[in-house]
Amino acid sequence: MEKHIGILTSGGDSPGLNAAIRGIGKAAHGYFGMQVLGFLDGFRGVMENRTIALDGSALSGILTVGGTILGTSRDRPDRMPVGGKIIDATDAIIENYEKNHLDVLVCLGGGGTQKTALKLKEKGLNIITLPKTIDNDVAMTDVTFGFDTALGIATEAIDRLHSTAHSHHRIVVVEIMGHRAGWLALGSGIAGGADVILIPEIPYDVENIARAIRQRSRSGKRFSIVAVAEGALSKADAVLYQRAMEKKEKAKNKPERKKAKAALAELELHHTGNTLRLARQLEELTHLESRVTILGYVQRGGAPSAVDRLLATRLGTACADLIQQGRYGVMVAARGEGIEPVPLEKVAGKRKIVPLDHPWIKSARHVGTNLGA
Ligand code: F6P
Repeated sequence: MEKHIGILTSGGDSPGLNAAIRGIGKAAHGYFGMQVLGFLDGFRGVMENRTIALDGSALSGILTVGGTILGTSRDRPDRMPVGGKIIDATDAIIENYEKNHLDVLVCLGGGGTQKTALKLKEKGLNIITLPKTIDNDVAMTDVTFGFDTALGIATEAIDRLHSTAHSHHRIVVVEIMGHRAGWLALGSGIAGGADVILIPEIPYDVENIARAIRQRSRSGKRFSIVAVAEGALSKADAVLYQRAMEKKEKAKNKPERKKAKAALAELELHHTGNTLRLARQLEELTHLESRVTILGYVQRGGAPSAVDRLLATRLGTACADLIQQGRYGVMVAARGEGIEPVPLEKVAGKRKIVPLDHPWIKSARHVGTNLGA
């Protein structure tokens, strides 16, 4: 009996999603003769049973295209906004899984998607995931697709900012995506030769950064590039954040949890505009004119790099192989030159942040980059 597989993309889009859909689809349909269905707009599309057939024509011409032909959303099955209310749509999702006679649902997503996937597995569905995100913070895989493309874009931006910062003798603070993990800021900061790199894993001291910039000025370098991850925190804010997190974890009842969540939300709100505040502080402390560039969604848009196309195709085709073997409940991880199925239990709820002893951190320090502390 031919197998029926469903595919969805969930969470923020990422270059390489279409290459992965194509890799899964071509191998599953063209090579193994399975029936392949795409669900539109993430888990919402499963709840609403909005599907498209992913056969020959739908899979053609998409390898190099950015975004996702399936559309995406951050909607979660158990917290689905419907008509102004939040409902638990898990049963509807299971119903549509069965209605479509699926043997497996393939979920392409980042950390949040891995958690959702495990919950659906625990409800009895056959699930396989692929790791995608420009943040590169999914656990148990060497790398996620989307990261290499975003790394290239952010690096090129830093290259371009160099000449204008140099000409105007300014500090240019460039904000790079990454709320909880600093892979993108650190990688592009090193590749683009940023003078300061700030990541969430290393809370910064603004005085320390200003000292490094003043030192550069004294040695005749009258401009500086500061690459800051959107989630980078000052030391003081990191303490507040840590305390709020602990309170949330220790909360014994609903009101306590609600209060802790509200405190965290307030901190997040305060964090908005942090990069602008940092630039202002540096201007005051160094007397150098400062400017801010927020790279934002440019980092997620457009065609995937060759490395991401290759990775997404490798993961996608390996996924079809695993389906053929009936290996479910796993994330298809990239390990060295190969691919490894990792049980979802080992991935869900874990984030791969930059370890403080990571070789990239050592390299950055060795070339004289200031890391804010
Ligand atoms: O998870 C990828 C990511 O691009 C993060 O770097 C960024 O913080 C977040 O998504 C932005 O989320 P949204 O697309 O919901 O604005």
